[in-house]
Amino acid sequence: MAVTGLLFVAFLFVHMAGNLKIFFGPEDFDHYAGWLRTIGEPVLQETWFLWVQRAVLVVALVLHVTAAVQLSKRDRRARPVKYAHGQRPRASFATHTMRWGGATLALYIVWHILDLTVGVANQDFRAGQPYHNVVADFQVWWVNVIYVVALLMLGLHINHGFWSAAQTLGITSKTRDRALKAVGSVLAVVITGGFLIVPIAVMAGWVA
Ligand code: HEM
Repeated sequence: MAVTGLLFVAFLFVHMAGNLKIFFGPEDFDHYAGWLRTIGEPVLQETWFLWVQRAVLVVALVLHVTAAVQLSKRDRRARPVKYAHGQRPRASFATHTMRWGGATLALYIVWHILDLTVGVANQDFRAGQPYHNVVADFQVWWVNVIYVVALLMLGLHINHGFWSAAQTLGITSKTRDRALKAVGSVLAVVITGGFLIVPIAVMAGWVA
């Protein structure tokens, strides 16, 4: 779970940084998005790298979700004796946000692909023109709501997930805990903020 989570963080950081090219205008952004399909050429054929990346992300997602389900089953099994009042104690805020946030993000990813890659969920999709598609997206209020909610969930997920990953990998210690928590929070803020600035810029008219 920790390893796949860190892989997602790396992908998201690069994706977020790439999205910021939108501030350089349609030509630069579309050129960048086009380049994503040709990475590795001429050694690789067009889109080969993209498909390898997709396969790695899908396998990582399946492993991540399987590990999450196993973990929550193990949690339940760790308390075979029922609580005296018959009620399980309420899960912590972090547990809730990881479970519900994870489920929200899974739904969001399906929506996101239908919206900006396939285009069927986009109001005005034009193949090969991602700049136009992103701008068209964030002119619709409820699309902004979907993105903002998903991105805030993503921030909470990274913030807590990074710390959990550090614990799982055994790199936490009394002296390092504060620094590791700070790194998780900074990553969460930078990635969430970097993504959020795009819909904000379109809504504000800075990107049109
Ligand atoms: C404001 C936020 C975001 C914007 C504007 C954005 C934009 C885009 C665009 C334009 C593409 C399509 C590139 C193309 O096919 O030419 C894309 C692909 C993708 N995005 Fe995002 N993205 C955002 C946030 C996210 C987040 C938060 C995630 C994951 C949780 C994500 C995951 C992906 C994935 C996995 C793909 C690749 C789909 C494929 O393989 O074709 N994106 N994004």
